Amino acid sequence: MEINHDKLNVFMGKMLGDVGAAMNASLMLIGDKLGLYKTLAAKGPLSSAELAQATNTSERYVREWLAAQAASGYVEYDATSKKFSMQPEQAVALADEDSPFFMGAVGDLVSATFLDEPKIRDAFETGKGVGWNRRSECLFCGTARFFRTGYKHHLVQEWLPSVEGVVEKLKRGAKVADVGCGHGVSTRLMAEAFPNSRFFGFDYHPGSIEAARQHAGEAGLSERVHFDVHSAKSYPAGDYDLICFFDCLHDMGDPVGAMNHAREAMAANGTCMLVEPFAHDRLEENLNPIGRIFYAASTVICTPASLDQEVGMALGAQAGEARLREVANKAGLKRFRRTTETPFNLILEARA
Ligand SMILES: C[S@@+](CC[C@H](N)C(=O)[O-])C[C@H]1O[C@@H](n2cnc3c(N)ncnc32)[C@H](O)[C@@H]1O
Repeated sequence: MEINHDKLNVFMGKMLGDVGAAMNASLMLIGDKLGLYKTLAAKGPLSSAELAQATNTSERYVREWLAAQAASGYVEYDATSKKFSMQPEQAVALADEDSPFFMGAVGDLVSATFLDEPKIRDAFETGKGVGWNRRSECLFCGTARFFRTGYKHHLVQEWLPSVEGVVEKLKRGAKVADVGCGHGVSTRLMAEAFPNSRFFGFDYHPGSIEAARQHAGEAGLSERVHFDVHSAKSYPAGDYDLICFFDCLHDMGDPVGAMNHAREAMAANGTCMLVEPFAHDRLEENLNPIGRIFYAASTVICTPASLDQEVGMALGAQAGEARLREVANKAGLKRFRRTTETPFNLILEARA
């Protein structure tokens, strides 16, 4: 086999970058958890000793961490003052939880993929699933925090208004189900924006429902927001004006059954809103950085979750609009359209 050295150099350059990112992933988690990014962004430029003191951490570790961060291009280093700082662009991505660009919460998700790797490897061999209830704890809060960025900046502002007639109903007072709600981030954001409406979050994972209740209580929303442990096919029908599935339909074993149940559970002129990972319909169209992230998450999180459940359709996190339309149509939701999108999400509306 003849090697083309130019091609090899390009490929090795790419591998170096990827190995560097993988080696630094746990450092990102540490920086997030110990407040190193936030403190540096708020108080920098700082020396390693100053950052260690401000975060109550050990200088020797912080010095090494800072060096790795500077080599990653995540922080700046000034060789004259020997101090570190963050540019605004680095700070919004790593230190500002409320910015639309915040990605600093990804560490918990990455961590879960490694902690659960033996179970996933085993599943590769048996073909069986790994249910959400068998995953490492950090997957649940990692998911909630990672998705929060998109929901906080798009859900009320763009996604709900893109769905026909929904905002008027929500303003007047509507009944909403958030199916597969996880920690209920989306449920709370909607409840805060539409005080006349009532919200019901359902998830089959008891730990997530417990966390969702706690967060809603802390936000003072317990009167209008209710969370219960139910699968997507078992929650009581209730004339819902809107039934939402946020980044969870493809995790379900029986997405047709789940949408069929939604059709039966909603009011006569109710709407089903799907928020799914952005994807084109064909594999070759998804071979890009976003597809790369989602196919990896799909392999280790979404596909095992679906295969663990009845039917085990395993749509995958890159299902794309055409396959999602098929699912909705099979469930009797014949009016189906893409209402809007972001680089990370497809927003779809389905009606009977
Ligand atoms: C990727 S998480 C998304 C959670 C939440 N919707 C969000 O956007 O933050 C997928 C969620 O679907 C839930 N789920 C998976 N299959 C389910 C089913 N059959 N019925 C109810 N919930 C399900 C999981 O427990 C998990 O909370």
